[in-house]
Amino acid sequence: MKEKLKGNGKKGTFYITTPIYYTNDNLHIGHTYTTVAADAIARFRRLQGRDTFFLTGTDEHGQKVQRRAEASGKDPKAYVDAIVERIKALWAKMGISYDHFIRTTDPGHEWVVQQIFEKIQAKGDIYKAEYEGWYCTGCEAFFTETQYKDLGGRCPDHDAPLERLREESYFFRLGKYADRLLKHIETHPEFIQPVSRRNEIVSFIKQGLEDLCVSRTTFSWGIPIASDPRHVIYVWFDALSNYITAIGYLTDEEKFRHYWPADVHLIGKEITRFHCIIWPIILMALDLPLPRRVFGHGWLQLESGKMSKSRGNVIDPLVLIDKYGVDAVRYYLLREIPFGADGFYTEDALILRTNVDLANDLGNLLSRTTAMINQAFGGRIPEPGPAEAIDRELPELAKSVLGEVETAIDNLEISGALTALWKLIDRSNKYIDETSPWALARDEKTRGRAGTVLYNLAETLRILGVALTPFLLEAPREIWKQLGLDADVTKAAWDEAKAWGKLPPGAPVRRGLPLFPRIETKDATANEAGKETAPTAPTAPPLISIDDFRKLDLRVARVLAAERVAGADKLLRLEVQVGREKRQIVAGIAKHYEPEALIGQDIVVVANLRPAKIRGLESNGMLLAASTEDGSQLGVVTPERPVPPGSRVK
Ligand code: MSP
Repeated sequence: MKEKLKGNGKKGTFYITTPIYYTNDNLHIGHTYTTVAADAIARFRRLQGRDTFFLTGTDEHGQKVQRRAEASGKDPKAYVDAIVERIKALWAKMGISYDHFIRTTDPGHEWVVQQIFEKIQAKGDIYKAEYEGWYCTGCEAFFTETQYKDLGGRCPDHDAPLERLREESYFFRLGKYADRLLKHIETHPEFIQPVSRRNEIVSFIKQGLEDLCVSRTTFSWGIPIASDPRHVIYVWFDALSNYITAIGYLTDEEKFRHYWPADVHLIGKEITRFHCIIWPIILMALDLPLPRRVFGHGWLQLESGKMSKSRGNVIDPLVLIDKYGVDAVRYYLLREIPFGADGFYTEDALILRTNVDLANDLGNLLSRTTAMINQAFGGRIPEPGPAEAIDRELPELAKSVLGEVETAIDNLEISGALTALWKLIDRSNKYIDETSPWALARDEKTRGRAGTVLYNLAETLRILGVALTPFLLEAPREIWKQLGLDADVTKAAWDEAKAWGKLPPGAPVRRGLPLFPRIETKDATANEAGKETAPTAPTAPPLISIDDFRKLDLRVARVLAAERVAGADKLLRLEVQVGREKRQIVAGIAKHYEPEALIGQDIVVVANLRPAKIRGLESNGMLLAASTEDGSQLGVVTPERPVPPGSRVK
């Protein structure tokens, strides 16, 4: 066996999984959240040269599927086949680079699940007994008598009555392994993440684990127990096994040993118990090592509540991709919410991210750089000349940012990785403003420096092209194309991003369309035309309730940069930091403040104001200022003593 094939994890392999998706309905944007995140991590590991295996698939058995199939007059297999095709088509559109797509109806999977069941039974950890309890078909799970009473007999997730089921069943001795599992969790702090989920699991196990019913006789759409085919195997037992059946457990031992244990099972938080209790105990019963890490991410919700078909509030990812492009949707999903936390989906936020981060920051950096190279250097990447102190900042920052990206991905902080890359983008845009390369190029004496500056910018964009490949699909290719690079950026290695100076001078830049066209919104157009003006305060404002006040999200923000808006004598463009987030705000205070005076100041902003476009600039929030009626005196509101940016004002 080759050295490479020996081990996993530290020895160079990387095995990452998503949950396998139910096939009783089409997927919504919440589902794509898990897959896109896993895809970004898998792509990053491949970029680093790791032998990566990325698994996703479909969870196709169970009573719910059987009932849906019956209702639509189809055979269950034909019913799921059609849904699986749609899921695969969605993943193709989202650019999900899975190495294998497992279906729980794959005959190979079914056979191995039967063997797993028998092995555990032979060991005495699965036994037959009689069971009676309250069952929810939606959850495919039993509820205890106490839960039944507390919930008034209905499943809160599916808003459906719990059914009384009595059956002869097979049981899995979970309780036997409780102490061993607790010990494992204790000695492997990275096993369950984030910490909040670990704590929840630990306290759940400590309450005591009841044996689990792992067979059903009330329906037939499942994997039969080989020795007692009247019973089908519990869907979660079947589904969880996919993580090992897919890589050859009991069929291709070499491949199995190569990839197992998995490096990351990425899952949504609601299925943590299945993955952190039942699954590790199945593995323990099989004498197999446990996965290195199970990460339960948060939920993407709508302001109107949880996304669900029955509520009719699902967001279709295909519609979003058609409207905004795959990169905008991926970027939004990966950047908007710190991975692990819950967050709200809004189309406004997606548009804002696209316009500000992608069109403005990244897109403009590319178009300004290539335009200046075109104008000043006949469209050829200039030769860098001697560097001044400021010119050394970009290579240094690029190096440290790439280090931050590595650490962030190691910690599954995908949004943090993007924030780090945007630091480099922001710094590059500022570098243009600080060095004015177009002016340097006009004078023969400083033309050499213009070459250095523009080379540095183009080189930073080359690096960004590589570093963005895990996250975006189209933009990295376009960046390289416009820089005159013919090689396939997706084939580039991470080390090429880390090596400064690889861009060959003399290559012809190819100006192209804007990387990300700005998305025009109704709000923005109305504002631009001056139709929507700030309402004047009524002389006697109506009384409001504390709930009205709470609707305002007032936050402390730190001013990072400030400048006058060309052609608008009242306006300042501010870049502010609110918590970990950076925003642009346009404020009508230029008559009262020099921009420099505001830099570094802490101010108060309305953080949940709908974004508006003022003089063509996106304003994402409003600063608070006190002023006299006639506007002759004005003072910006600041906290009386230091509090961190992002603190709530209430
Ligand atoms: N079939 C099970 C998993 C079995 S794994 C052995 C399942 N399927 S699912 O289709 O309901 O969910 C798949 C993934 O999508 C889960 O990680 C789930 O958390 C995620 N999401 C579904 N809706 C979501 C949001 N609204 N937000 C974020 N992720 C959520 O569970």
